[in-house]
Amino acid sequence: MKNQFKKIALLTSGGDAPGMNAVIRSVVRTSVFHKIVPVGVSKGYDGLISGKMVEMNARSVKGIINKGGTILKTARSKDFRSKEGRKKAFETLKNNNIDGLIVIGGDGTFTGGLVFSKEFDFPVIGIPATIDNDIFGTSHTIGFDSATNTVMEAIDKIRDTASSHNRLFFIEVMGRDAGHIALNTGVAAGAEEILIPEEDLGLDRLIQSLKRSQKTGKSSSIVVVAEGDKTGDNVFQLKDYIEKHLPEYDARVAVLGHMQRGGSPTCFDRVLASRLGVKSVESLIEGNNCSMVGLQNNKVTLTPFQKAIKGITKINTELLKVSDIMSI
Ligand code: F6P
Repeated sequence: MKNQFKKIALLTSGGDAPGMNAVIRSVVRTSVFHKIVPVGVSKGYDGLISGKMVEMNARSVKGIINKGGTILKTARSKDFRSKEGRKKAFETLKNNNIDGLIVIGGDGTFTGGLVFSKEFDFPVIGIPATIDNDIFGTSHTIGFDSATNTVMEAIDKIRDTASSHNRLFFIEVMGRDAGHIALNTGVAAGAEEILIPEEDLGLDRLIQSLKRSQKTGKSSSIVVVAEGDKTGDNVFQLKDYIEKHLPEYDARVAVLGHMQRGGSPTCFDRVLASRLGVKSVESLIEGNNCSMVGLQNNKVTLTPFQKAIKGITKINTELLKVSDIMSI
């Protein structure tokens, strides 16, 4: 593999996800392996604009594969949305003799990378890391597996108290636009109902389902609600509605929130992060640009940013069916 790159920058952007540190480690060590100097940019695109970056080496990433969060810090940069901000970022890269950029994050991160690359003819490769798993061109984003395991454990614990008190729990999980976390954890933790933005069950169906649960002798119930679900205005309004129409239910709400993004990455996420990190650097060396590395049919692949951003990740309808059958 002939390598024309001397120095590349890497950054994490958007919401943090477990496994971001494992992927930083992989990008840094693969760069060093190919005699490229890796430069870690602090706080996503904001760090590119302000010039906050540091040269790294194989030892700078020791002891981080098991750590949650991101040692590079992250941000959703407002300034990078303006041409002026992106120009400053380009100047930082040029002044530091950096000839390639690896961006780790979700679709907002790739949209920024795409615009930047086209504007300044600068090579950019993306790595999908978000707990939401809502990126087209990869079966798994880094962080999804860890977050779903964290959520599943939290629901298991809530189940203990729900069954002790014969209660109905509405558990809100993350996923502003996507229901992958809700669907997978709902099945894994045996939820009676799963409410996701991709499918509008409606309040009537929820009422019918809860009535059926009572009739079949269930003493407690769990409804997993994705943050972006539109069945109610929000999870608290859903609870009030059900209590009004089914007063026999003693209902509670648990919003899991940002704890879902924290913690040590699972084995799956560490391996995925290591594989995608290697592929990202080697893709740059091979002359690719404006593309995202991903996992498809257990093979590492490349997908153009345009497709990764615009493509829709479909919900697994088989899982919906499985959930319906399991919750009789
Ligand atoms: O994009 C990941 C995500 O965790 C979403 O599921 C959630 O809606 C959002 O980030 C929360 O973002 P913030 O950390 O800005 O509150």
